[in-house]
Amino acid sequence: MRGKFITFEGGEGTGKSTQLKLLSDYLSAKSIRNIATKEPGGTDIGLDLRRILVTGDKDKLDPVAEALLYFADRRVHLTGKVWPAMETGEWVLSDRFADSTTAYQYFGYDKRVSRKVLDDLYALAVGDFVPDLTIIFDLDPEIGLKRSFAKADNMSVKETRFESRGLEFHQRMRHGFLEIAKENPERCVVLDANKTIEDLHHDVVSVIEERFNLQNAG
Ligand SMILES: Nc1ncnc2c1ncn2[C@@H]1O[C@H](COP(=O)(O)OP(=O)(O)OP(=O)(O)O)[C@@H](O)[C@H]1O
Ligand SMILES: [Mg+2]
Repeated sequence: MRGKFITFEGGEGTGKSTQLKLLSDYLSAKSIRNIATKEPGGTDIGLDLRRILVTGDKDKLDPVAEALLYFADRRVHLTGKVWPAMETGEWVLSDRFADSTTAYQYFGYDKRVSRKVLDDLYALAVGDFVPDLTIIFDLDPEIGLKRSFAKADNMSVKETRFESRGLEFHQRMRHGFLEIAKENPERCVVLDANKTIEDLHHDVVSVIEERFNLQNAG
């Protein structure tokens, strides 16, 4: 059977990577084969694109060129890693996917990329494939950015191209994720991320168990 594709979305420092790892361990304990991956940078080529996208000056790229690079990364990721894994029955957990592009580049940016351009790029690079489930981690950006900057202090390569935008940008983006959830109520679940790591993990597991009927598995 084809594996599931679950995406983790939300602003900086909302706990996506932490929760993804915990869910991966939880699924493994239930004998559900799974891989953890991320965008941008889920593949070797993607890592080169990631460096361009998440480091350096925030205004260095034309917004449409930037969107093209995100979708190039996404296409390489899907064809080279996500789809082949799903074919073998593995579940794929992705730290960010297309909703992040919409939230940042349509809802967040002053020089926004039109929704039509983003939809066209999605159709071209992804087709009619959509995640089986998207978990959106919702958190006041003031809290999230504090967590992110504390984390960046310990990184050798500073991936702070987005963190360095103002608070207003991050508030627009948060609003954007909530809009996306409203537009896609079947696919998206919003979780309040202002909780301890353990409590939030518990919420993630509840969502997964209910959505995929896992209560009796494992
Ligand atoms: N519920 C939580 N409460 C407090 N701190 C947390 C919580 N979840 C994660 N953290 C810490 O906050 C920092 C950011 O968490 P994490 O890297 O999981 O977020 P993220 O959403 O992946 O961020 P980014 O968008 O920057 O990749 C980490 O140092 C992590 O240990
Ligand atoms: Mg992360």
